[in-house]
Amino acid sequence: MIPSVLPTYNRAPLTFVKGEGSWLIEDDGRRFLDLGAGIAVNALGHANPALVEALTEQAGKLWHTSNLYDIPQQQALADKLVDTTFADTVFFTNSGTESCELAVKMARKYFYEKDQPERIDIIAFEGAFHGRSHAAIAAAGSEKMTKGFGPLLPGFKHVAWGDHDGLHAAINETTAAILIEPVQGEGGIRPLPDQCLKGLRDLCDEHGILLILDEVQCGMGRTGKLFAHEWAGIEPDIMMVAKGIGGGFPLGAVLASEEAASGMTAGTHGSTYGGNPLACAVGAKVMDIVADPAFLQDVNRKAGQLRQGLEGLVSSHPEVFEAVRGQGLMLGLKCKAANTDVVAAGYEAQVTTVPAADNVVRLLPALNISDDDIKEALSRLDAAATQVEQAMQKA
Ligand SMILES: Cc1ncc(COP(=O)(O)O)c(C=O)c1O
Repeated sequence: MIPSVLPTYNRAPLTFVKGEGSWLIEDDGRRFLDLGAGIAVNALGHANPALVEALTEQAGKLWHTSNLYDIPQQQALADKLVDTTFADTVFFTNSGTESCELAVKMARKYFYEKDQPERIDIIAFEGAFHGRSHAAIAAAGSEKMTKGFGPLLPGFKHVAWGDHDGLHAAINETTAAILIEPVQGEGGIRPLPDQCLKGLRDLCDEHGILLILDEVQCGMGRTGKLFAHEWAGIEPDIMMVAKGIGGGFPLGAVLASEEAASGMTAGTHGSTYGGNPLACAVGAKVMDIVADPAFLQDVNRKAGQLRQGLEGLVSSHPEVFEAVRGQGLMLGLKCKAANTDVVAAGYEAQVTTVPAADNVVRLLPALNISDDDIKEALSRLDAAATQVEQAMQKA
């Protein structure tokens, strides 16, 4: 009999009922150190008092009105994002995949309004993940996500990660945009070198096409800058955001330059919930905290500490791990053992991590994880690796 919850996930046998900072408390009372943070969502940890206060204060006043009216919390968050980023304008969504839908629509509408309606193609990259809606699975293109869901949305081309010649060859008179994650998340924590991101910006300028960045996972302070592209000193035309911006409350956004957004006039897009007062009250508080340069400096310090510890872990367990990769607090352990065995051993050691493609274990802790919790995380990961090693020796 089909479970009452549609079985599209292979869930671990864990039921968390409470969260405190970087800790998750299981139904049976066990405490787990959370290095997954809801897959890079709980940027400020669980039950962060400042976010609880922002949410409950708004909850006592007004939950929802709709985008038929001005929403002051939405305006305040949009102003903060415009003040601190490349963007001139923002549309709020409820998730990453909705941000992908709008980014694709915006790029196509831009060229339609510029009398270049033939420019519809979006060039995306193998190993990418942009969500589960039709535009997003067509953009990622992998059989795993698209099989059985045809006909797929047309107008997407795929280039192998790092294939410069393939990329140049893919651009032609029907190209509208290049869509890329500055650090691939689900694809296995693969950072795009700064030089390549600069090269992509130049290529887009040269061909008069748009650069869309998917910063759903790598944005909002995760890499140690507010947005990952800042490391390369470039600006996108359109950027997809979600996950960390709501700190655990469902919220996403599409940020754009005035030029790129010029086709999106009244009536061309909408969302019942997007930019709702509750989500934006929380998002504004997250922005106040994460966009503070002192906070980001601390993210970089913590990232250095965690990375150094992980390098040591790789050296002590050469049968289990191959290398550390990633940027800031978006780190991956490339495994020699099966990554799923490492994640499962982590559950035994009461530490949660997230598997990714390319046999990688992802570490995406809360950005405000304490120094003591980083030490504890390393010790629990060491215990997990020892368990995997012992199981390998027995096999
Ligand atoms: C880079 C990236 N883009 C888009 C998405 C889709 O976001 P959502 O699950 O909120 O739709 C994800 C989710 O993992 C992601 O990592």
